[in-house]
Amino acid sequence: MRIVSLEHEEDFDGWRDAARSLALSRVPPSEVTWSVGAARDLFGDEAVFESTDGPAFSVPRPFVELARSVICHRDPERFSLLYTLLLRLRAQPKTLEDRADPLVQRLERMAKEVRRDMHKMHAFVRFREVEAEGGTRYVAWFEPEHHIVRSNAGFFVRRFNSMDWSILTPELSVHWNREALSFSPGATRADAPDGDPIEETWKTYYASIFNPARVKVKAMTKEMPKKYWKNMPETALVGELIAGAQARESRMVETSRTQIGSNARVAWEAVREEAMGCTRCHLYKCGTQTVFGEGPLDARIMFVGEQPGDQEDLAGKPFVGPAGQLLDRALVEAGVDRSATYVTNAVKHFKFEQRGKRRIHQKPDAPEIAACRWWIEQERSLIRPPVTVALGATAARSLFGKTVTIGAMRGRPHEALDGGEAWVTVHPSYLLRVRDNKEEEYARFVEDLHRIGERVKALA
Ligand code: URA
Repeated sequence: MRIVSLEHEEDFDGWRDAARSLALSRVPPSEVTWSVGAARDLFGDEAVFESTDGPAFSVPRPFVELARSVICHRDPERFSLLYTLLLRLRAQPKTLEDRADPLVQRLERMAKEVRRDMHKMHAFVRFREVEAEGGTRYVAWFEPEHHIVRSNAGFFVRRFNSMDWSILTPELSVHWNREALSFSPGATRADAPDGDPIEETWKTYYASIFNPARVKVKAMTKEMPKKYWKNMPETALVGELIAGAQARESRMVETSRTQIGSNARVAWEAVREEAMGCTRCHLYKCGTQTVFGEGPLDARIMFVGEQPGDQEDLAGKPFVGPAGQLLDRALVEAGVDRSATYVTNAVKHFKFEQRGKRRIHQKPDAPEIAACRWWIEQERSLIRPPVTVALGATAARSLFGKTVTIGAMRGRPHEALDGGEAWVTVHPSYLLRVRDNKEEEYARFVEDLHRIGERVKALA
């Protein structure tokens, strides 16, 4: 039996080095015991395995991304499951593409749970101001589901770079002193401060962005599980705000558009800025830049394309090339004003193959779409359009989380993965390529857009 002792729960590098050496020695998964820190003493044995700098072998990039997330999962089996998949990938490099494979499915699900937990931490950490020895420190209490504190620390460093802060969690605490991160053992809720003056700012902010017209209590508790409420000052307001929703709704429509607009704009700009440095999948190495969505943040329609093309990649703007021009023309004919819509893509980097001087578009694969879903989710939660339109199969996959048939779904509303209303139609570049019945296909596309425009009016 080989015993691998990893340094900590999120020790991806340790796992990778060990797994590489074990795989090179063809050690079967059943012969390996994975442990974290002192756990190896439990076996009364030596750690008989030591990581080495053995010869490298390559694995598909999406596997590395998957493993980075799965390593953070609470399931103690994770190291072994990943090692099992690694061995299989060496024998069958396409295993990851087999969506029906139970191991791939299980690991994808685990990765999704981790990403969701990370997202919850981004959204629900609330700092309280405390006077500490070296000056003001901001301290938050958070209870993650998975081992995400180390992997998530970078986000808070980028966001709150110029503050001294600590995030206390039951298993591990993380601290930033404007220069370096440090970690200390877990803490308890009682170690974290309670309310402070900054809470008033949160409450004011929350009350101003609270949208009574969109109160869906079920969706709200799904997105913001009650377990986080006790750490969030604004939740104290929820009952009161819902009760006064009707009256506030009409008042709000008149008075607070500007306020909401500017709050949302600041948040959108922060997300966009973060997306510019995205390395969630390998595609950031291909394109010139991240092409983020654009359009008014109170847009009532969000169009989601596949990925930027050659011209979009250079311009840094979505749908400005030939497909974009066709979309523009069709929108005019359908009576939909593009400038009032938000236009974005499921994948934010241009994937292409260089052929001579030409960059030939390549379809993004499922892990790339899944990796980029993070950004679409951010855009959707900020803009919350009443209607989202998937232009083509890639966008539909991103919105529904699975492969769908355009022909079977177009022409009527559906529920997207996040609960919003989504429509599906063809991608404009399909209309540029199609040879048979070109005009009819185009007319059908215009008809779809027209119907969507009418639907948005009906929902208003
Ligand atoms: N095709 C897309 O899907 N998006 C763009 O931005 C351009 C072409």
